[in-house]
Amino acid sequence: MIRVRFVSADGAETREVQAPEGERLLEIAQNDGQPLEGTCEGQMACSTCHVLIAAEDFDRLPSPSEEEEDMLDLAMGATRNSRLACQILLTPDLDGLTVRMPPEHRDMQGR
Ligand code: FES
Repeated sequence: MIRVRFVSADGAETREVQAPEGERLLEIAQNDGQPLEGTCEGQMACSTCHVLIAAEDFDRLPSPSEEEEDMLDLAMGATRNSRLACQILLTPDLDGLTVRMPPEHRDMQGR
């Protein structure tokens, strides 16, 4: 099992979960009740699975594909540590990964 730590957008809450190798970060987050929509279910047609990877962990991830980088350009609140959770498969190298939820964004009506 591989440990993943989720940090809320405001940094106030941290939860550590364990998940099997090969599982996608998006599913792990959703199973834990983290607020990630993942609307397209990994088809690279949304950016609602955007997460922020802890700076000290970022280089442990494989590089994003060009397609992922293009989608990240559309993500609200993207930073240099942004990734799409649907594109990250858990491997033993990622044990202890810390993942922060992005700042909440508002829709066109300001909700
Ligand atoms: S779920 Fe849509 S790009 Fe990740």
